[in-house]
Amino acid sequence: MLIKNTLVSFDERRDLFVAKDKPSAIAFAVENWIHSAQRAIQQRGRFVVALSGGSTPKSIYQALALLQVLDWSKIWLFWSDERAVPPDHPDSNYHMAMEALRPLPIPPSQIFRMEAEADIEQNAKKYEEILHRNLDKHLFDLVMLGMGEDGHTASLFPHTAALTVEDRLVVANHVPQKDCHRMTFTFPCIEQSRHVAIYALGPSKQEILAKVLTAPIQSPYPSSRLGTPEHKALWILDSEAAGKISL
Ligand code: 6PG
Repeated sequence: MLIKNTLVSFDERRDLFVAKDKPSAIAFAVENWIHSAQRAIQQRGRFVVALSGGSTPKSIYQALALLQVLDWSKIWLFWSDERAVPPDHPDSNYHMAMEALRPLPIPPSQIFRMEAEADIEQNAKKYEEILHRNLDKHLFDLVMLGMGEDGHTASLFPHTAALTVEDRLVVANHVPQKDCHRMTFTFPCIEQSRHVAIYALGPSKQEILAKVLTAPIQSPYPSSRLGTPEHKALWILDSEAAGKISL
């Protein structure tokens, strides 16, 4: 039985919030983002967030841009993955987020895009150095992630080399199934971070979500690995996506 609009502990690594519908899920995600930001700013003087691509994050950015509740001068933006396209390309995750967030007074020196359009291996190393230089050992206050219908998250696609990287925070990943290279956070990078939110909405996520949540941690679905007992992952769902989960 699904209990709607409540936060439930699914297991020792994962909490689930199942909203009754998509607008309620986005409203909760926005509230959760603002709450994380306010708490981080209060405790550490700034909010360090890794943004992602996907349709739900896009709605979250659009909603955030309309609200006047945060001190944007204390917000630092990074990205959890990027496609090999220039920053003004419609497929760029940076471009998508900045289209919504550009009007906000975030200092440009606090916006760090992944340069994945060229020299991707080299630029992945540089991005990792930027993280080491600017962040503490917990890296991000919040990592935003989506989940694809193949179970990928960030650009950690099934059966790709980046899945087994344990000694790097950011890598270039060859994704044969998409015939491309992407820049992506690794699992150790995501796992060190204070909070991870994964957004999965709509009927197209129903089958894969049930598999991801019930599969063993080392399953073929990268999203199964998200969440640790120290830093639980928060899955934000709607009742369509959660339709095959028993709680
Ligand atoms: C990609 C997508 C992808 C996306 C998920 C979730 O680069 O393949 O950006 O990683 O984040 O498929 O997307 P939705 O939020 O649209 O469900």
